[in-house]
Parts: sequence; structure tokens; C-alpha cells
Amino acid sequence: MEVLTIRGGRPLAGTVSVCGGKNAVLPMMAASLMIKGKTVLHNVPPLSDVESMSRILGCFGAKIKRENEDMEIDASALTFRSVPEEKMKMIRASNLIWGPLLDRFGRAELPYPGGCRIGLRPMDLHFKGMSLLGVAIEDRGGLIFSRGYKRKGTTICLDYPSVGATENILMAAVRADGSTVIRNAAREPEIAELCLFLNRCGASIRGIGGDALFIDGVRELRGSEYTVLPDRIVGGTLLLSALISAGDIILNNIGFDQLSNVASKLAETGAEVTIDEHSLRLKSNGRYRGVDLRTMPYPGFPTDLQPPFTAAMTKAAGVSVIKEDIFEHRLEFCSELKKLGAKISVDGRIAVVKGRTDLVGAEVEATDLRGGAALILAGLAAEGCTVVKGVSYIDRGYPAVERCLCRLGADISRSEK
Ligand code: EPZ
Repeated sequence: MEVLTIRGGRPLAGTVSVCGGKNAVLPMMAASLMIKGKTVLHNVPPLSDVESMSRILGCFGAKIKRENEDMEIDASALTFRSVPEEKMKMIRASNLIWGPLLDRFGRAELPYPGGCRIGLRPMDLHFKGMSLLGVAIEDRGGLIFSRGYKRKGTTICLDYPSVGATENILMAAVRADGSTVIRNAAREPEIAELCLFLNRCGASIRGIGGDALFIDGVRELRGSEYTVLPDRIVGGTLLLSALISAGDIILNNIGFDQLSNVASKLAETGAEVTIDEHSLRLKSNGRYRGVDLRTMPYPGFPTDLQPPFTAAMTKAAGVSVIKEDIFEHRLEFCSELKKLGAKISVDGRIAVVKGRTDLVGAEVEATDLRGGAALILAGLAAEGCTVVKGVSYIDRGYPAVERCLCRLGADISRSEK
């Protein structure tokens, strides 16, 4: 089993070009199933979730070529099949092939997806949207059987701005008969990227970036090329690593558009945050204020940065109240932070963090992707040596995390244990 060993107390400093966005590239890879031709994606991050999605596309006969951060997906000749459960269970985003399969084959037979155990993560909003488009759905004991050869455009009001449901319904509507409106659509930047990508393939989507998406059904889609934007969650995590380690990090390819909401929250701590269109810098002297946090759908503070933020609050002066309003079980990592000496009390979706704690290195275990990032950040600030197990979770969303942090001055290494 691989572990990360961190010797804390070193400030992280330097300039980073952030990798392409995991949560942007995964839906685009799924959408490539809709294209009877080649899709070329640039700035694809080298992540295990990307490999998992590649294996899923391969099940249908898609041919994938990778060269560094470039990916070519040839979906000219596909064969319909039911995806093996073990492949669907690898990631949550596997459920994003539902819309594309309905578009390509008019049917889909899918086991339920996997993904980080951070909440119940039902798919009722996906089901509701597909049904409204005229898709016949049967849940046969954990397998979703659906038929939707003639999907008819309609108006769909989402009870909650679910990212995945918005993406799946969008892809199922692109070639439906007539027009579809998705109201209360998710507004995360990854949705806008998917819309721009689909329009480049010949779709007709308006209202991009807003909470109402207008999709006029088209007849044909064509192969296209797209460069994925940098990963805003990886970027935000790196800024938080500067905060907790009294460092100074510049992100040179992410700016105001993607992280303004996060930048303003980080500035509340008293850290020196400078932002412009294409770069973001956080400089910290290590003495910063505790700040309350509530996670919200975009443009609120992203839930994916809540765990690293909570870790940083263990070293802030004062008390921080963290309210996780998106997922039911996204505070599990706090029990591991307490092994490092953090003073955190968790009650349901609320964590109360008592700051300026002296963290001391210990052996801890990641049980989800972003919780793992939180443990690394705490290790950077802990006295002595911290060993983080469960590295495979972290590799799902942070490419070669130890190499990136080493370049910024951290004492961190990966080894077998
Ligand atoms: C996407 O997950 C991201 N994953 C998540 O990132 C991210 O945390 C989440 O959006 C919120 O921003 C990918 O894009 C691959 P949701 P998704 O549907 O689509 C409830 C990471 O660490 N809900 O917006 O699964 C759900 O239970 C991952 O990179 C329903 O109730 O998120 C949750 O409480 C973690 N019914 C809330 O909505 C549904 O049908 C948000 O879920 C669907 C969702």
C-alpha cells in the first residue's frame, strides 16, 4: 500500500500552472460517446479518474490515444452493451454516460455509479429529468434500464441545482425533438465548459453560465477539439497549502472567473490575496484569523474545498464554524485531523474548529479524495512526521501530488508500506 510521508514546518512558495480540471474533462469524455468521429481534448489531467472513465468508454469500443495532456477519443464505431458493475463503481462520474448513451443508442443499461462516500448521492434528479424527456426507466435491483429513442424537448425544473443531473439531462436533450429548458440548472464553471464543448460539436445551447439552459435539438454532431480549463479545486487547495504553511504561492493560469468566490473567503482570514484575470496569489505569515464557512452551489463556496479549508482553520486564531450544506457525510476526515491534535467538534453537518492548535505528526488515513487533501495540508503544518494512508483516493483528483508539493518546498515523499 502506498503512503505519503510529510515532514511539516516548511513554508510552500513558488509559481504553479494548475492541471486541467477533473470535473470538466470527465463529462466531456462521456459526451464523446455522442460523436460519430474523433474528439480531441487538450490539458487533460493525468488522474486515475480519467483512466477509469477511459476504461468505461473502451467498453463500447471507443479508441483512446493519450500523449501527455492530449487525448483523442475515436467513437466512430461503437457497440451497445451494459457496463460491467466494477467499472461503474470506480467513480461517481460514470453516471454521466447515461445521457450520451441515450443520445447515441436510444437506450442505456447502467449499474449505479461509485465515487467518494461523502453522502447518499441519490440520482432522483437524473431520473426525473430523463423521464420528462420521455425516457422509460426501470430500476432492476441496482441496474438502471432505460429506453429513450425519441426524446422530446420539454421544460425541466430541477428541485436542486445538481451538477451531474444538469450534465446528464443536457446531453440527453442535445438531439431531442424540439427544445428543452433546464431551470435551476447547476452553474458550476464545469457546466459552462461542457456547454461550450457541445456547441463546438454542433449543439445549440443558450443561457450558458446561467441557471436556465435553453437547448434546441439538432440533428447531427461532429467531432471537435477543446482545451480543458485549469482545475479550480486543485488551485484552491494549493492556495490553502500556502495559507497553512505560512507560504507564498502564485497560480499563473487561474484567475478571477474561476476562483473569485474562494479568493474573497481566503482574504477574510487576513492573508494577502491578489487576483487578476489570469493569476491568483496567496501570501501568508502563518498568523491568520479563523473564518466561518458554509458550502453552497456555485457561485457559493465549493464543497470540494471545504475539507482543505477546515484543515487550514485548525491553525487559524479563534473559532471557525464550518457548515457543509451539500453532502451529508463530508466531515468524516475531521476524526483523522484530531489524531494530529486538531480541536474539532462535529455535529452532523457542522464542524466547530478551535484554532491555533499545535499539530503533531501522526499516522492518518484518507477515506475520500478531498478529505485526503485536508490531511496532507495538516501534515504540512504539523510538527514532525505525518504518514497519510489511502493515497489512491488522493490520486483520483490531484496528479502526482507529492511532486507538485516538493517543487513548492514541501518535504513529502511517496513510498510503499
Ligand atoms: C459533482 O458531483 C462533482 N463531481 C463533485 O466533486 C462536487 O462535489 C459536486 O458536483 C458538487 O459541486 C464531478 O463533477 C465528477 P451533485 P455530483 O449532483 O454531480 C444531491 C470531487 O471531489 N443530489 O451536484 O455528484 C447530492 O446527494 C467531487 O471532485 C440529489 O439529491 O454532485 C448532493 O447532496 C466530489 N439527487 C447534492 O445534490 C440527485 O439526483 C450535490 O450533488 C443528484 C444529486
